[in-house]
Amino acid sequence: MTTILIQNATIINEGIARVADLRVRGAYIDAIAPILSPLPNEECIDATGQFLLPGLIDDQVHFREPGLTHKACIASESQAAVAGGITSFIEMPNTQPQTTTFEAYQDKLDRAAASAAANYSFMFGGTNDNLELLKKLDKTKVAGIKLFLGSSTGNMLVDDHEVLRQIFSNTDMVIAAHCEDEQTIRDNLAKHKAIFGAAIPIEKHPVIRSEEACYISSSQAIRLAEETGARLHVFHVSTAKETTLFRNDIPLRDKKITAEVCTHHLWFSEDDYAEKGTLIKWNPAVKKASDREALWAALNDDRLDVLATDHAPHTWEEKQQPYTQAPSGGPLVQHALPALLTAVNKGKISLEKVVEKACHNPAILFDIEKRGFVKEGFFADLVLVDLNQSFEVKKKDLLYQCQWSPFEGTQFSGSVLTTFVNGKKVFNQGKIIEKHAGMQLTFTR
Ligand code: DOR
Repeated sequence: MTTILIQNATIINEGIARVADLRVRGAYIDAIAPILSPLPNEECIDATGQFLLPGLIDDQVHFREPGLTHKACIASESQAAVAGGITSFIEMPNTQPQTTTFEAYQDKLDRAAASAAANYSFMFGGTNDNLELLKKLDKTKVAGIKLFLGSSTGNMLVDDHEVLRQIFSNTDMVIAAHCEDEQTIRDNLAKHKAIFGAAIPIEKHPVIRSEEACYISSSQAIRLAEETGARLHVFHVSTAKETTLFRNDIPLRDKKITAEVCTHHLWFSEDDYAEKGTLIKWNPAVKKASDREALWAALNDDRLDVLATDHAPHTWEEKQQPYTQAPSGGPLVQHALPALLTAVNKGKISLEKVVEKACHNPAILFDIEKRGFVKEGFFADLVLVDLNQSFEVKKKDLLYQCQWSPFEGTQFSGSVLTTFVNGKKVFNQGKIIEKHAGMQLTFTR
């Protein structure tokens, strides 16, 4: 069986940094020790001065397949993901058809089996009328149930309160929720249309999709979870006010209510709308600099549990439309880790904390089997990074099918050097080497 020896890397795992050698054998991490002697004919990688992390597990991506493949597809976006050190992804159900039936779910698994560069699983979409299917989901195969409690790309709003209560009461799977209060958004939009007509400036996006819209919806979902005992994971928290809803006095494994924060809400603020326009239009909206700082604080003090991307590509032409027509979302998987490494260099977060939030915690939260840690016997999903290698994001290097990035022109101070998926070197020195190394994620529930 093929082996690879990674020598003298600084391994970051479970809050500890240690210099060691690591041997990959087949798909697994075989051995970790201060010094391992090379085997005959073994490939050796000198990782002196580099950091070796578990590959990131991104619990929220939109890869657009099937049905929206003019924007992206599983092959293109999973290759961009591994170039960004993301070795596993959980993909969202707002495709066409929506992933709200067993057939649609199986179709996605088949597509990913044929083309994913990274490990994959999918959320099953909850709707106003598929409760009976939700009750029968296979917990070892389906990552969780996604609920849109605010409308976004794909018209998947679940707005029947009795149905919501039934879903929360009838599953012990993770319910991942997009929380924005629909009525508040509609009222705010109507007010702005009355003032601006069709020409609402992009700067009004966080006023329309407001802090209040997020807070009302997140707190309602949390109340319902508390009443029903459901396992709730609040996606893409974007405001200081919402961070007060989450606890940090119990370990993640015991939490019934958890929260995620995404790259764009940690990087951009409303000050960036003037330059970036609709390229940074997301739902929930990028808000004030003070919200961004509060998100960093809540991530560092463990009220926020998971770092993810909400990678949601649209075409350049779609994004060039005026505010009311430009869709929300943008591509992120290739640059989330470089952005985090840059944040490490700026002292906003430690590398150990990045690994906890982007690798360990998604594995713990979703009970992902043998991934998310640098441990003997675990899958060799690994990423080598250099905290001293800076680079500028250039269009020519983008692997996203949509060929644009909200980060174009940005200088990051840390780089992804090499990524391994299931023991295969899939990305090295800027190039995709292996396009098809992903396996289906399994869950120990
Ligand atoms: O900005 C967003 N884009 N937020 C979402 O919830 C959906 C996503 C998309 O699919 O485009």
